[in-house]
Amino acid sequence: MFNFFKRRLKMEYEKKVSSPDSRLVLHVILKSGHLEYSLSRDSKPIIKTSTIGLKLKDQPKISDHLGIVRGIEKSISETWETVWGEDREVDNTYNEFALYLSETKEPNRLFTVRFRVFNDGIGFRYELPPQPSFTRVEVEDEMTEFNIDLNAYCWKIPAFQPDRYEYNYEKSPVFEINSPVHTPATFELSNGLFASIHEAALYNYGEMTLELDEWRALKSNITPLSDGIKARVELPFNFPWRVIMVSETALGLTKNRITLNLNDPPAEDFSWVKPLKFLGIWWAMYVGEWTWASGDRHGATTEHAFEYIDSCKKLGIDGLLLEGWNDGWDGDWLENGKTTNFLRPMPDCDMSKISAYARQNSVSLIGHHETVGFVDNYESQLENAYKYYASLGINYIKPGYAGSMMTIQGKREYHHSQLGVLHYQKSLELAAKYHICLDVHEPIKGTGIERTFPNLLTREGARGQEYEGGALNPSHACILPFTRLLAGGMDYTPGIFDIKNNVKRLSSTLARQLAYFVTIPSGMQMAADRPKIYEELNPSAFRFIQEVPVNWEISVPLFGKIGEYYVVARQGRGKKDWFVGGVTNDSAHSVKITFSFLPEGNYVAEIYRDDETAHFRDNPLAIKIESRSITPADSLEIFMAPGGGFAITLRKQS
Ligand code: NOJ
Ligand code: CA
Repeated sequence: MFNFFKRRLKMEYEKKVSSPDSRLVLHVILKSGHLEYSLSRDSKPIIKTSTIGLKLKDQPKISDHLGIVRGIEKSISETWETVWGEDREVDNTYNEFALYLSETKEPNRLFTVRFRVFNDGIGFRYELPPQPSFTRVEVEDEMTEFNIDLNAYCWKIPAFQPDRYEYNYEKSPVFEINSPVHTPATFELSNGLFASIHEAALYNYGEMTLELDEWRALKSNITPLSDGIKARVELPFNFPWRVIMVSETALGLTKNRITLNLNDPPAEDFSWVKPLKFLGIWWAMYVGEWTWASGDRHGATTEHAFEYIDSCKKLGIDGLLLEGWNDGWDGDWLENGKTTNFLRPMPDCDMSKISAYARQNSVSLIGHHETVGFVDNYESQLENAYKYYASLGINYIKPGYAGSMMTIQGKREYHHSQLGVLHYQKSLELAAKYHICLDVHEPIKGTGIERTFPNLLTREGARGQEYEGGALNPSHACILPFTRLLAGGMDYTPGIFDIKNNVKRLSSTLARQLAYFVTIPSGMQMAADRPKIYEELNPSAFRFIQEVPVNWEISVPLFGKIGEYYVVARQGRGKKDWFVGGVTNDSAHSVKITFSFLPEGNYVAEIYRDDETAHFRDNPLAIKIESRSITPADSLEIFMAPGGGFAITLRKQS
């Protein structure tokens, strides 16, 4: 009876699923038991016929001999509220098609593919339901193709490299991709459309990178474990969502929220999570004034921490990061990470005194755990390390995973392998238990899981300002909004005023440092320079950093060309005031802002912009600060110098 039923499963099938506005069309095709899909917008191709399937160890691949058990459609239209982020409200409107399949011959495995078609892209994921004959699988490979225009331009960073995601983006045609790249990878197609390929809800699985396959189609390349297996999972198992964002303009991509939408809402109350701005015992180490290691120039001393807490009060900044506070930094710190102790402060760093003083002054401390990727050492102390900070009233931690690989279960593994992903997940869940918020450096890339765990306030995961002093060029910050930032906010460490420092000379103007607070969203935003610099160099410019929020009501992108310039306006969450930020590459660029995005009313604009003589190389500190009245009917031309930018506060008059 059972076999008779199997034989009757249809192995030929076609289904078109449209977006709610009917413009995006997903085409699902089952041809002789082989599953494929394609995607177009207004009949313009985005993804041409592409294979779907899985290779499992010691089993035939799941891709041939598939038959339809049933297809179920549903439509959802809802909005949900973020705990924090770029917008308070997120629209989640899509048409879903879940395709339940079974092989038509032995071993008759069951396989489901769930597609969601939004107006601005699609998500699809594989699901392996419980099977009659086995309960766990080893994934050898995914056969997911994204057969995109070979002549499209792609902005991407290389995968499997020692500095993880900390690379400059490169633009090349797809046909020139000759080694795996990370996602989000962003494309400008020859038909004028823009797309970005990424993934959502990455749990218990290796990260997806992209490469060209033997048929010259872009395909997934899942990060392997050290023994070559991509993931070992128990069934039932839902794979991460594969995401294709689509827009008619590059700027449109920056409003795409599919990755967040494909994650679950939080399972518990996270109203205790508070975004914040912070100073740090940090840049002083980068410019060589202080050290992480002990000695005469040790940064994280009780005395310095007291001074910086006083500065937080004086400058109106909520928090203070303390790096180099614990045992492990002396000698070869990259090697000593093996035995770093996360409970033992250095003798000149009295954490009880410091935390008491911070509490007394209502300053939130941000603890630091530099693991150097030695996960075994870290996990053996993780819960105690969290308890230690929690006992001192410290609810924010910046963990770091410097080092080219992680050491997990005694083996060298990629940060973005299944075991790496599991570690980041474990630390995040445990942090939630202790009401700790995280700012993860050298993280796993963002896949929207901060919707479920809003205590993941920010992450690094791209080249940030620590690379200034030669390895950052002005176009980088004009590429991030269209690539890395599609995966969520970033701790870029903005706000360095000491641009001409000869140890770390920045490729930026001063006005641009303010712009970053708007152009690079982050639930924890660092005012990264030393407080004495803010007080001495330009206290008027620092006013913008004091006023700019870290949490937004709504975000309205205004201008953008990948790698050239980017301008965005955002309203403070729960506030009437708006903020605008803009950056350009190494060419000057002017924009004419029309303030029609503002609600009715009169506003006082404080404008922080490059002087006409400014230049990131010769004259980076030349800033003009001016005030004027603005209504939604007004427009304003703003000049950005080479390597420059601007920031505007729009204060609503009651
Ligand atoms: C790299 C991080 O990105 C940086 O912020 C930190 O200061 C160093 N690691 C040391 O932990
Ligand atoms: Ca880093």
